[in-house]
Amino acid sequence: MEFFYGFDLGDAESAVSKLDKKEQAVPDIVPVQHAKSFITACAVTPDGRLLIGENACYAADAVRRSLRFKSRFLEESESIDELRSFASGVLQELYASGDLVRGEDVCFYVGCPAGWNRNDRELYRSLFERAGYPPVRIISESRAALVSACQSRHLQVGYDILSKPVLVVDIGSSTTDFAYIMGGREVEMQTAGEVKLGGGIMDELLLEEALVNSEKEEELRRVFRESEVWRTYCEFAARRLKEKYYSDIAYWKDHPCAESVLVRYDRPLHLRLRMDAETADHLVNKGAERLGGKSFKEVFMAALRDVRDHISGEQPELLFLTGGVSKLPWIREWCMDVFAESVVICGSEPEFSVARGACVERTDRRGAAGVPGGPGAAESVADDRADRGEAYRQPVPQRGGGTRPASARTGGHACFPEMALRGNQPPD
Ligand SMILES: Nc1ncnc2c1ncn2[C@@H]1O[C@H](COP(=O)(O)OP(=O)(O)OP(=O)(O)O)[C@@H](O)[C@H]1O
Ligand SMILES: [Mg+2]
Repeated sequence: MEFFYGFDLGDAESAVSKLDKKEQAVPDIVPVQHAKSFITACAVTPDGRLLIGENACYAADAVRRSLRFKSRFLEESESIDELRSFASGVLQELYASGDLVRGEDVCFYVGCPAGWNRNDRELYRSLFERAGYPPVRIISESRAALVSACQSRHLQVGYDILSKPVLVVDIGSSTTDFAYIMGGREVEMQTAGEVKLGGGIMDELLLEEALVNSEKEEELRRVFRESEVWRTYCEFAARRLKEKYYSDIAYWKDHPCAESVLVRYDRPLHLRLRMDAETADHLVNKGAERLGGKSFKEVFMAALRDVRDHISGEQPELLFLTGGVSKLPWIREWCMDVFAESVVICGSEPEFSVARGACVERTDRRGAAGVPGGPGAAESVADDRADRGEAYRQPVPQRGGGTRPASARTGGHACFPEMALRGNQPPD
């Protein structure tokens, strides 16, 4: 194997890293469409072209647009087509830019939430295979993020931490993943491994607030009911505005932070999105119907307490926070409240930590990136076989877990047809 690629296909953002095994100890992030972190989105244009990333979000004439499909992977078969289309689009981009060369001896390490079982992982792996990828292994996102923290010079964590109990809290777009890592290995938690809570809920709340404040509320609601393309377009605009505000809260306290979106469905409608201190407070502290009347903070705090109560071994010495939402300043404080005896740190570039960690995770079976005792060393033979799909290679993988209907695997229509895949060209 000459090159290793780490692929963090997130529900909201994705990133790809590359490691030249002979030359590098730390991987580089490979830009896709000139963006180191790119939007997980795909769209089909009227002439059948497949677009991915930001191009897909802003294509106003798209006949289909899909965002946040990874979070639906366990529930909706349609999401498999969306994921495969997106994965295929990324692969084409990597070939087109020359960052990936056909015929080279490479392996892709793709992250998945810690809570996915073996069948889920195999189904996920096969999706990349069908998209035309070189060999793919599926690995845990949380552990990858921790491995990347070990490599970071800024955090000064060091590989020693892998011999101690660590709780990785990955707060993404749709889910918050909790992974308890002991001795470099994930220990299965009885419950609370994954909570349906992420930054996407804030986007929905922001959009809802804009609708309530709009004079054209009823008309806009009808457009969103009828057109998924326009609903996702506006939700994406809400997300970008939210990120802009939270990235510099002090500045926006005294400056207007707003965006006007022109919705051109049957007739032009303006939607005014606005972030200010009050709205920002609502997004985390106000009860929401989607959260059973609870606020983001309440659900997050309850999940933290639940996790703490279900750790049967030692309480974690370190809480490592990652995922885009971990940039919110309050998250660390909330974690410190519940895990008062633990050291709580945030990754410096959470958008790249999974991709970077995934890439170095298995470069050397004796230890990550040749580091003796590194995370690779902690892997069991069973995990190794599982990675290769040997332990559970089945003709038709079924999903585990009583609440996940196996029937959801079949019968879904292809949202992004093969025709669009074949017709893929670099976006304008
Ligand atoms: N500065 C910020 N403040 C608050 N939220 C942010 C900030 N930057 C990004 N986010 C949010 O973080 C989320 C994306 O995080 P991340 O990239 O970790 O998620 P993901 O990996 O795509 O999703 P998931 O882990 O659920 O699959 C989005 O909801 C995004 O709006
Ligand atoms: Mg993620």
